[in-house]
Amino acid sequence: MSKQKIQELSDKLNKWNHEYYVLSNPSVSDYDFDMALEELQKLEEQFPELADANSPTKRVGGDVTKKFETVAHKYPMLSLSNSYSREDIEEFGKRIEKSIGGDITFVCELKYDGVAIILTYENGELTKAVTRGDGAQGEEVTANVKTIRTVPLKLHGSFPDFFEIRGEIVFPLDAFNKLNEEREAAGEALFANPRNTASGTIKMQDSKVVASRGLDCYLYQVYADKLIANGHFESIKDAETWGFKVPQSKDKYIATAKSVDEVMAFIDYWDKERQNLPFEIDGIVIKVNNYHIQNELGFTAKSPRWAIAYKFKAERVCTTLESIDYQVGRTGAITPVANLEAVQLGGTTVKRASLHNSDQIEKLDIRIKDQVYVEKGGEIIPKIIGVNLDLRPKDSTPVNYPTQCPVCKTPLIRKEGEAQHYCPNDKGCAPQLKGKIEHFIGRKMMNIDGLGAETVDQLFEAGLITNIADLYDLTIEKVLPLDRMAEKSANKLIDGLSASKQVSFAKVLFGLGIRYVGETVAKKLAKHFKSLENIQNATLEELINVDEIGERIAESLVEFFADDYNLSIIERLKNAGLQLELSEDENQAVGIALEGKTIVVSGVFEMPRNDIKNLIEQNGGKSGSSISSKTDYLICGENMGPAKLKKAEDLGIKMISEKEFLALIGGEEGIKKEEGQGSLF
Ligand code: IVH
Repeated sequence: MSKQKIQELSDKLNKWNHEYYVLSNPSVSDYDFDMALEELQKLEEQFPELADANSPTKRVGGDVTKKFETVAHKYPMLSLSNSYSREDIEEFGKRIEKSIGGDITFVCELKYDGVAIILTYENGELTKAVTRGDGAQGEEVTANVKTIRTVPLKLHGSFPDFFEIRGEIVFPLDAFNKLNEEREAAGEALFANPRNTASGTIKMQDSKVVASRGLDCYLYQVYADKLIANGHFESIKDAETWGFKVPQSKDKYIATAKSVDEVMAFIDYWDKERQNLPFEIDGIVIKVNNYHIQNELGFTAKSPRWAIAYKFKAERVCTTLESIDYQVGRTGAITPVANLEAVQLGGTTVKRASLHNSDQIEKLDIRIKDQVYVEKGGEIIPKIIGVNLDLRPKDSTPVNYPTQCPVCKTPLIRKEGEAQHYCPNDKGCAPQLKGKIEHFIGRKMMNIDGLGAETVDQLFEAGLITNIADLYDLTIEKVLPLDRMAEKSANKLIDGLSASKQVSFAKVLFGLGIRYVGETVAKKLAKHFKSLENIQNATLEELINVDEIGERIAESLVEFFADDYNLSIIERLKNAGLQLELSEDENQAVGIALEGKTIVVSGVFEMPRNDIKNLIEQNGGKSGSSISSKTDYLICGENMGPAKLKKAEDLGIKMISEKEFLALIGGEEGIKKEEGQGSLF
């Protein structure tokens, strides 16, 4: 019966999800997981009346929230009072001892730098997820929170019928950096920091986008009318048995402390170690463990008396702002960059700091020769956070933000709603032209051997290239007269260009540098439309109809192809012999024997290793470079590294020989006869 099948699949998927994301200990392969999820999705589509509001299919998103409802909090969401020194913590401890007397046990935990969230569970089901808002009421973002894999949708064990659990939604640094890399490659403005991005993400209308971002959630407080535990530490442990991801003692994310010394030891440990955490924290929270004592201590108007936050000092130095450069990016975006008198900060010498945009300069009222405070936050580039006005030179004047491009002198424009100024001269402004060529030759695009930013600069200055199509008109004779260009390097460059004509269509498309078309979007478009011509001929509606292609991307594509200059470049690339459509191999994967499987190849084989990789992809699999719990198979050759072997053994990954692999893809059947580029992208 379908109802029973849906239930079975849901239970199984909930269990697997918990094993994978909360316990980091999966018992099934990604493939089995995906297959079960797909089966459940199909059944739910077929029998929508049987679909559960907390079905595991909610993890992938799909629900769109047009307007977030305002919801009043059952228990107000207070803030914590802050402390900055050992003395502050001593005072906090003494105050509590004085009013309670006797020994107090504290719980120390991380102060996650993210977005506060209140989750409500009724009869073991997540019913509501609400943001902090103003402390009394927040916005309901349930559909988005359901996509966070570490948030359980259904609980197990013995939990209170009704309770709230509070925590912090964080943007893990890996996911954040990856997102920014993708944005940079697509010519989009970068996100400033993980916290703000987490906050923006959780309020996005499309839960599918939220699902793709990889948010995480750490839980730090259980609220119920009738609690079953005596203290905070215990109730966090209880929550773990119900299926929540809670801080672990073994990771030192949480610890009990009996004295100020023990609290300080925890603080000192994390002050140094926080740079190795996979997410950002901005301090430590110290709480009285026992609930009765918490109740006795009660609250002030703003915060509980039984808890305090210790804030880490962000490393900050003061230095002189010497000048401001205005950099022009590949898309024409202008970024002001501060040139500073060199200063030591966090173990490195800092000479430059980002100023983001004109609003930022205006907001901070930064002027040349000011003494500015520079801080290193989670971001890689240090930032200016303020000015020491007492030391401002008397004759200083506000910064005159340029109205013309610093390079080509074209008047700058600023689109409504955008913080950045742009130079619109995309066909004549040198840094834009060079930037576009540099993008095109990048590792993930055409990956041209023998060509780097410096050579692009040289070729550009020599008047040999002004656009990507000019690259393919280069000859040995033309490049040889250049400085530092010996015969060997000239040959390498021309060979590299020639080899790039085999680079797959998706990479060429990415390389074109169309705004908002990053690596992933380029792959999607290539797969869907199969050729550049088809993309060019597609209407706005047809483009939007492609899964995960939004209006913004579609409009950017239409605009790009409406430009005659762009079309002439494409024509020249086509004549040069670049891949502007999917190759036959890409078009028809030979088999599906490895669909959804991730396979790592290691060691020496009879067949060239690249051929094995191509076979994996031709048969619908993904070839991975390092072993993780997501790996389905390890194909072992001779002389395989012992570390890899051990890791695979520890993770219980299936190991197969070259022969077994060939058998798996159906022997000869799985091998495509003709020679070719092989891999799909
Ligand atoms: S307990 C009564 N524990 O910090 C407030 N809060 O300044 C109890 N936060 O909005 C809060 N990590 O979002 C607590 N381990 C932690 C925390 C934490 C981060 C945030 C929380 C709150 C803010 C308070």
